[in-house]
Amino acid sequence: MSGIILPGADGMLFQRDRDWHPPADTPGYKSSTFRAPRHSLLALGPTRSEMTGPTFGHEKLGELDNDLIRNFSQDGNEAIGQRMIVYGQVLDENARPVPDTLVEYWQANAGGRYRHKKEGYLAALDPNFGGFGRSITDENGFYHFRTVKPGAYPWPNGGNDWRPAHIHFSVFGHAFAQRLITQMYFEGDPMIWQCPIVATIPDKAAIDQLIARLDRHNTTPMDALAYRFDIVLRGRRSTMFENKLEGN
Ligand SMILES: [Fe+2]
Repeated sequence: MSGIILPGADGMLFQRDRDWHPPADTPGYKSSTFRAPRHSLLALGPTRSEMTGPTFGHEKLGELDNDLIRNFSQDGNEAIGQRMIVYGQVLDENARPVPDTLVEYWQANAGGRYRHKKEGYLAALDPNFGGFGRSITDENGFYHFRTVKPGAYPWPNGGNDWRPAHIHFSVFGHAFAQRLITQMYFEGDPMIWQCPIVATIPDKAAIDQLIARLDRHNTTPMDALAYRFDIVLRGRRSTMFENKLEGN
């Protein structure tokens, strides 16, 4: 633990752990080496435009924005795959819910294929699946969406590396500079533990917080399984964000 103490919103103090987040250069994840800084970091204060607006409201969302099974489909069709509901709560460092927060998510289809022009995996596109959506948290900090379980996919890192099934998440504050990005995995997936990107995270507890739990109580009978994924924005129990060092 470093000696830096950060105040929480209610004045409580949270100690920062600089060893919790992966180092910038992790050779097992090859492209991290090219992205890692070669020089000492400089502190730049936020500009006014970074700290003000945009703010998001429920009225800006479309009816199907949180339904990946139908938000890209044609002619009344639905996406192919194992249907599921993903839900959870966005929380601050004191476990208080964070309402009115834009949560965005994107994922591969059931075969592990992204709808992206640079996608190189040979798995088929699903004509009825776009792979992205968004929600705004309710007054208790909850979001939810319907989707299909994404497939694992190979990627050009080592000779034969595969990403476990995962969903990418972005959480906005009230300005673009406050965007946080992470990934969600699925409980019980053995592929999590052979992933070079997951392996960059030194603390198993941090990995554990990225794994959604199967929630049998919230399944929809004869329709969809449910997985719960809570997102903690900061503090000792913070979710690990790819673009933010813990405690910052
Ligand atoms: Fe991905």
